[in-house]
Parts: sequence; C-alpha cells; structure tokens
Amino acid sequence: MLQGKTVVLGVSGGIAVYKAVELLRLLVKAQAEVHVVMTRNACEFVTPLTFQTLSHNPVHTEMFNLYQEQEIGHISLAERADLFLVAPTTANLIGKLANGLADDLLSTSLMATRAPVLLCPAMNTNMYESPGCLRNQRRLIEDGYHLLDPVSGDLACGWQGKGKLPDPQQIFEAACSLLVTEDLRGVRLLVTAGPTREEIDPVRYLSNHSSGKMGYAIARVAAARGAEVTLISGPVALCEPAGVETLQIVTAVQMQQALDSRFETSDVVFKAAAVADYRPVQKATQKIKKMTESLSLQLEKNPDLLAELGRRKKRQILVGFAAETENLLANAQTKLEQKNLDLIVANDVTAEGAGFGSETNLVRLLFADGRQEELPLLAKDEVASRLLDRVAELLKKRANQA
Ligand code: CTP
Repeated sequence: MLQGKTVVLGVSGGIAVYKAVELLRLLVKAQAEVHVVMTRNACEFVTPLTFQTLSHNPVHTEMFNLYQEQEIGHISLAERADLFLVAPTTANLIGKLANGLADDLLSTSLMATRAPVLLCPAMNTNMYESPGCLRNQRRLIEDGYHLLDPVSGDLACGWQGKGKLPDPQQIFEAACSLLVTEDLRGVRLLVTAGPTREEIDPVRYLSNHSSGKMGYAIARVAAARGAEVTLISGPVALCEPAGVETLQIVTAVQMQQALDSRFETSDVVFKAAAVADYRPVQKATQKIKKMTESLSLQLEKNPDLLAELGRRKKRQILVGFAAETENLLANAQTKLEQKNLDLIVANDVTAEGAGFGSETNLVRLLFADGRQEELPLLAKDEVASRLLDRVAELLKKRANQA
C-alpha cells in the first residue's frame, strides 16, 4: 500500500517506545521505505539495533556522528520524507517544536522537513493535560502539524487517564491517510459532527453521547486528500483539524443556519452529527429549582436538517448516518429513502467497537441504487477513508453522466 513512499519515523523517549517497533513493522510490511531517528532517551528504552534490523536501514541517533551524517545527513532525511511520523512524541519534543527549538537530530530534522508531520503524544495524563502542554499542542495544530490524540487507560506510571499511545494499527492508518494522493482536490465538502445541545435553563441542556470522532475523521482525511472542507461542529472535546474551516455551533437551529450558509456551494455533505430531535419549548431564564416532586418538560421537534437538504439538493452528494440500536438495515433504508440520500452509513451503536466515543467503527453502507457494502471493524480514520473512496466514485460517475 505504501510502495514508493518514504517515511521518517522519529522515536522520542517514553515507555511507549516498544509500540514504535510494531508500528515500524506495519510500515515495512506495507512496503514503505522507513528511516528511523531516535533521541538519546528513546535509546534507553529500546536499542537502535531493534529498529535497524526491522527497517533494514541504519538508525540515526546523533547529530554530530560523522559516519551517520555522511551516510544520509539530517537535511537529506528531512527532504526525502513523504511523511515524518513521531511515535511516541514526548511533552519535551512538543514543547521544542511549538517554540521553534532544535537541539538534537530529531528536532532539527523535524524543523527542516516540508513533509506532513504526524505527532503521536504519549505521556502521563497530568503532563498531557497541563496548560503548557495543551497550549503547545494547540500551537502545533495552528502551525499545520497533525496530532493523533492519545487514548485513555492504565498508564505505565500507575495512573489512569488520557496519555497512552494509540495502538500501532491506529497510528499506521492515520499515517496512511496522510500519505494518500490528493484525489479530492477541487471538491467542496461539508461535514457536520458531534452532538447538538438544547438548553433547558442557564445550567442544563438536552444532548446525546456523540463524541464527534467520526465526523472529525472525515474532515481530517478529506482535507489530507485535497478537499476544501468546512466542518460544522457541535460541542466536542476534539482539536480542530488542520486545514479545515471549522464552524462551532451549539443548537440544532444554529447547525441549520451554518448548513444554509454553505450548502449551495458544496459538492458533498456528510451529515455525521447527532442532532437532538427535540428541544424545550421554553428555555427558563433562571435556573429551575427543585421545588416539586416531579417535573415535566414540554419539548418541540427540531427541524430534520438532513431531510431538508434532501429536498433542496441539486447536484450535491448527500451522505447520512443512521445510529441504531435495533432493526439496523430496515431503519437505515427508510432514512435513505425518506431523506433523499445518495448513501447512508448504518451502524449498530450497541455493537462492540462501534458505540459513541469509540476509536473504531463497524458500519454498513447502503447506496441509493440498492447496493450494500459491509466494512470490517476499522479505526475511524480508515472508515473515513473508505467512505471518501465511495464518494469519489459517485462524483466520478456523476461527472461522466453530465
Ligand atoms: N438528522 C438531521 N436532523 C435531525 C435529525 C437527524 O439532520 N433533526 C440527520 C443525522 O445527522 C443523520 C441522519 O439524519 O445523518 C439520521 O439521524 P438519526 O438520529 O439516526 O435518525 P432520525 O432521523 O433522527 O430518526 P430517529 O431518531 O427516529 O431514529
């Protein structure tokens, strides 16, 4: 899959270095040419020999090693890269990059490269969430670096929380999506993601468990493939993707207004957001006090934003999502028809690995022409990639018909 691509794999010092070994194996298996650069601290965890044996290339560790500089100097490494991938990325390296500091081979090569850079932070959860580290990450995203969020779980330091390096397979898939060709250049793509919130009073709201990860993955991968992407996002805890225009909204009505402002000029719409179907008829101006034994809220229906787009669509390709807990295919088929969609992505949110907030998704695609396709359990970036492949085919077909 990665034949002809050169990946520079940077490894900085943390316990997760062992996962970089497996990541290297996956890259080599996909036929990428991989050159490894390790920091001194990384060498304390796993020896360069392991990386050298698996990459079939000398490992680079020293800035001023005459032999290594002569073999393939750090500038040449930076120039050769189609992708510069750093896993794990320590807080120290994040801090250096965010502030333009280069004091070793890895940070110098990173600064010298023009290739896309994918950083995979991994560290203690308090370090990850410290104001300085978060600020540095935001700065890196603004500077165009790609960051793969760490995952939550038991950390090597004995703590629990966000900070674990994702599985090598997930990093590999994120790397693949950055190495693909820009086949969506010139396509204007509108993506909605996350939940909407409908206010009850100044401190409470109605919402749902949508994490926004699927929609953000679509926006990120589409942008990497050259599309001009606008992301309309409900409140989520995700970083805005690099190179994507992101409009932050809260309610369904605000999402409707944002869609209205972009729909006419879009070629493709992915409606991945979980829009609240109902909102309170009245929003209390003051916090509702618990004066009574029971409380009834009167709700009114929100507009069905996707059905409205289905009525208005001319040349746009409309992709809907159906998150179901029962009768998956029948419900998805009804939505496909009733909302006048070209494609619906159906997922059973009760299935393992497919629920809200999960890093993976298990989906079935239903097309307007009756075709169906089942995808295996995949990381959300990879699901996004497959969906974009299908949409690229539909666009091509439409262009041929015109
Ligand atoms: N959708 C929308 N506006 C709404 C509700 C849903 O645009 N008010 C879109 C979603 O973004 C999704 C698709 O419609 O792409 C299906 O959403 P889903 O919540 O699965 O179904 P609903 O149409 O809301 O129907 P139900 O809740 O009865 O399953």
